[in-house]
Amino acid sequence: MIPIAKPILGQQEIEAVVEVLKSGFLAEGKVSREFEKAFAEYVGTEYATVATNGTAALSTALDALEIKPGDEVITTPFTFIASANTIAMMGAVPIFVDIDPSTYNISPERIEGAITEKTRAIMPVHIFGMPAEMKRIMEIAEDHDLFVLEDACQAHGAEIDGKKVGSFAHVSAFSFYATKNMMTGEGGMITTDDEEIYDRCLMIKNHGRGKKGGYSHFRIGYNNRMMDLVSAIGIEQLKRLPGVVKARRQNAAYYDDMFSELKSVVPQEELKNFESSYHVYAPLLHHEEIDRDKMIDLLKKHEVGSRSVYALPCHKQDTYLNIEDWRWAEFVDYPDYSEISLPASEMVGNKHFEIPVHPGVSKEDREHIAHVVYETLS
Ligand SMILES: Cc1ncc(COP(=O)(O)O)c(C=O)c1O
Repeated sequence: MIPIAKPILGQQEIEAVVEVLKSGFLAEGKVSREFEKAFAEYVGTEYATVATNGTAALSTALDALEIKPGDEVITTPFTFIASANTIAMMGAVPIFVDIDPSTYNISPERIEGAITEKTRAIMPVHIFGMPAEMKRIMEIAEDHDLFVLEDACQAHGAEIDGKKVGSFAHVSAFSFYATKNMMTGEGGMITTDDEEIYDRCLMIKNHGRGKKGGYSHFRIGYNNRMMDLVSAIGIEQLKRLPGVVKARRQNAAYYDDMFSELKSVVPQEELKNFESSYHVYAPLLHHEEIDRDKMIDLLKKHEVGSRSVYALPCHKQDTYLNIEDWRWAEFVDYPDYSEISLPASEMVGNKHFEIPVHPGVSKEDREHIAHVVYETLS
């Protein structure tokens, strides 16, 4: 079976971890500082700070933006549920705005229509590694005096006009979960150019401690720190990232080319001067006889890993359909999510199928994968 995801771990990662183990200092310290410096340089931001995982990075960032109970945060429903849940954890209200069905990313045109006097922030997600329309989103945010938090958890190395995602918004969050383009098993990073937001993140992720550490605490916070043991892997993975993104883009370009004659297969659109990092390659299938689930089964029968991920967009998940059970519901007005219809998200949820695009996919593998799709649908 050609797996849908395959992390690359080599001698470099092993040696880096062993060195930290030998040092006897495993918690967050100087190796993490080194990782943060290298990551900020790569993304092109002034500051970066590690977090336990992408969820912790998002929560810390939302807290640093001082999002309060009852505030509305606009986001996409076509995402991993952590994007929405971190908003709801703050007691804030996720306002789901539909996506553009060709890019699968939040539609800037629709954002404006969703802004109310309670809106405090916009959280675009670069879904599958495809950059959201950040320039337009930043303009809208500026016009309405809103914060923007990029959920770049799937998009390490994606770019718009040569500028890396994670460097457009007031603050951004990355995940290094085991299947990501760069990974540490679990792990996360916050990036920002704003010193005040950065300082707040440092305190929030460390129980409100000041810069000197110790046992004086200045605000409520979490333990969202990340171990040096984990950062050591991150440093080595970051060195691999440009090569990983290049290989993913080459595989994606091959599929795009192979599928260009198939009317029933429509790849995710990359807008002009946008470069996806292709964390996921998942075209839409519009075929009269073969539906997406059948396509996935057929691929698996031919030893190709395949799946769909957000068949249920966030507004269709029980979490939000039963929002009245959430502890903040007593204090905060949530919309009736069951009444919400977001047709583009629901359509993409029902029609996309994922095929392997990672660097472990050999030329023969990708020929085989494209052949199975082609032969099935033509
Ligand atoms: C879009 C998105 N946001 C947030 C997260 C949360 O990251 P983590 O799993 O590291 O907590 C993920 C992770 O899979 C993600 O894909």
